[in-house]
Amino acid sequence: MRIDVVTIFPAFFDVLEVSLLGKARGAGILDVRVHDLRDKTHDRHRTVDDTPYGGGAGMVMKPGPWGEVIDEIADASHADPIFVFPSPAGEVFTQATARTLADESHLVFGCGRYEGIDERVFAYAATRGRVRLVSLGDYVLNGGEVAAMAMIEAIGRLVPGVVGNPESLVEESHEDGLLEYPSYTKPASWRGYEVPDVLLSGHHGRVAAWRHEQQVERTRARRPDLITD
Ligand code: ADE
Repeated sequence: MRIDVVTIFPAFFDVLEVSLLGKARGAGILDVRVHDLRDKTHDRHRTVDDTPYGGGAGMVMKPGPWGEVIDEIADASHADPIFVFPSPAGEVFTQATARTLADESHLVFGCGRYEGIDERVFAYAATRGRVRLVSLGDYVLNGGEVAAMAMIEAIGRLVPGVVGNPESLVEESHEDGLLEYPSYTKPASWRGYEVPDVLLSGHHGRVAAWRHEQQVERTRARRPDLITD
């Protein structure tokens, strides 16, 4: 999978070098390229923002540099890219979104700062690929970088070969619409806390039933919005 990231803070993405995603990059499974939006400016101050038409607080990212970087990335693309713009005004990103995007061959994350990006950029990007505005949740970050990092990790780990044991992807929170069951490892007794007996029983059927009960109980308590029946 090819992933391009456009940002005025390329250093945010240095951490993609480490951990599982770093390994996947090294192995050629993920081809991640980070672009500095300021490289597409042509003034001495490398200006990427300006005051909003109609007035109001904050600054808006100018369309010019975005147009140039979108063209550069789209011209070089061998696929029909999806431009993902992290935005608190977007559709909510879920595990289902991650799964859908993990099937794509080229994603482009456009990270906005300040009060946002000139709206015409989204219309233009839609002439060079598909466009999705996606929110991490109902809270506001300073910009799209941290949101893009979270999405890249959630999507990247679903790409075949990134996570060594694909079975570990199956039993996770949200994959079956429920929260994950609690996990324990050795020792069986620790500071007076005991591992539930059923997990020491060696009885696979009972273990599976207990885990499912725990999933339902936790989901009811912590995320009743996920229970549909
Ligand atoms: N940019 C600012 N806030 C955001 C959010 N909640 N999700 C995605 N991108 C954002």
